[in-house]
Amino acid sequence: MEFEGKVILITGASSAIGTAVAFYFASRGAKLSLCGINEETLNKTAERCELVGKVKPLVVTSDLTNADDTTNLIRATITYFLTIDVLVNNAGILETGSIETTTLEQFDRIFNLNVRSAYHLTMLAVPYLIQSEGVIVNVSSVNGLKAFPGLLAYNMSKAAVDQFTRCLAIELSDYRIRVNSVNVGIVVTDLEKGITDKLDESYLLFLRRSKETHPLGRAGFPEEIARAIAFLASDKASFVTGVNLPVDGGRHATSLR
Ligand SMILES: NC(=O)c1ccc[n+]([C@@H]2O[C@H](COP(=O)([O-])OP(=O)(O)OC[C@H]3O[C@@H](n4cnc5c(N)ncnc54)[C@H](OP(=O)(O)O)[C@@H]3O)[C@@H](O)[C@H]2O)c1
Repeated sequence: MEFEGKVILITGASSAIGTAVAFYFASRGAKLSLCGINEETLNKTAERCELVGKVKPLVVTSDLTNADDTTNLIRATITYFLTIDVLVNNAGILETGSIETTTLEQFDRIFNLNVRSAYHLTMLAVPYLIQSEGVIVNVSSVNGLKAFPGLLAYNMSKAAVDQFTRCLAIELSDYRIRVNSVNVGIVVTDLEKGITDKLDESYLLFLRRSKETHPLGRAGFPEEIARAIAFLASDKASFVTGVNLPVDGGRHATSLR
């Protein structure tokens, strides 16, 4: 029960990686504040967390691109739990496009969630994280570390998350707040599904190709990302800050020929 009593705010908890992160922390005694848009799936996550963790999570449906919702998320969390120990900025979207095809609307949509909303939520959480000497874990991507064709705005947004992580780690080190990111490879979730049609490739084929693109020979599972996030959030990582940690089956290290 290494997170017993710790208050953990997780965005994107209604789906895939965020849900796995919520279960992982719940099973180790944490008190959870869960955010997502889809109320039904968010409530399902919360119910299952309560079953494994015996503590009822706080559920806050919020569109994080809406500043009022973001403010309300922090307010509701503090009103309910009085503190925040760990912030997991996980919510994110992916859209395809190159410099020739990505519209400004798409660019803004991606940056508004992946970068701006994480910035806003973190800004509002920092005063409480200072009090708790807390931890921030950002969910980034191998796309932040390397250039992949056809995902320009997404790649850029995750590179911004990585720089945000490093800069925050320096800025907040005097408060003993640690800030790290996990840089995820392909994981079996809904995130990638939307792009496969446009690539003229079935989702299964897309995942099968991960055998070649990931040195460990497969795509990852949300639980594997959750374990890495929990490590960075735990005292086991007490001397780790400013790190962009690839959790990607080695994908960051390869250059496919
Ligand atoms: N899956 C991968 O292969 C992969 C690879 C690299 C990085 N990542 C990163 O991992 C993170 C989680 O991705 P995932 O694969 O779990 O994706 P996912 O299944 O599509 O889940 C995305 C989550 O973000 C939430 N979300 C979307 N728009 C939002 C908004 N405006 N306000 C608040 N929440 C919003 C969704 O809420 P609702 O479902 O309630 O709408 C959902 O909970 C993302 O940051 C993604 O970039 C994933």
